[in-house]
Amino acid sequence: MNKYIVDLKKIQDPRGSLTVLENLKQVPFEMKRIYYLNNTTAGTSRGFHAHKKLKQMAICLSGSCRFIMDDGKTKEEFTLARFDQAILIDPMVWHEMHDFSSDCVLLVMADDFYDESDYIRDYESFTKAVK
Ligand code: TYD
Repeated sequence: MNKYIVDLKKIQDPRGSLTVLENLKQVPFEMKRIYYLNNTTAGTSRGFHAHKKLKQMAICLSGSCRFIMDDGKTKEEFTLARFDQAILIDPMVWHEMHDFSSDCVLLVMADDFYDESDYIRDYESFTKAVK
């Protein structure tokens, strides 16, 4: 596997499936905030930033989207299309989300409250900071 993708256990029975997210277990930090993206306009891409300290984990609960993850050395691409697979967005990883399907619901868990000063939104500043 790789440093970004986390496979979640799906509890499957004849009624359907159930997936669990617990602090410091499946989620490798304590959640303080959850937000979700849905109804994303066709052709829109989002993200295009890194965080200085924030840790996040994202799951596509419905539909799909494509992530570009860039730690300043390597760029990797992942399509999230399963509700039992999560992507970890560690600090100082430039991330972009593309190709949202019309039914995409992207759930994001974060270890801290929203703080604009934690964002690096300029790619050149990001590459300088990770060097
Ligand atoms: P932003 O993080 O720029 O979205 P993305 O990088 O996914 O494209 O957030 C979009 C707007 O929403 C921006 O004005 C900040 C606001 N926002 C909050 O108020 N609280 C939050 O928890 C988040 C994630 C964003």
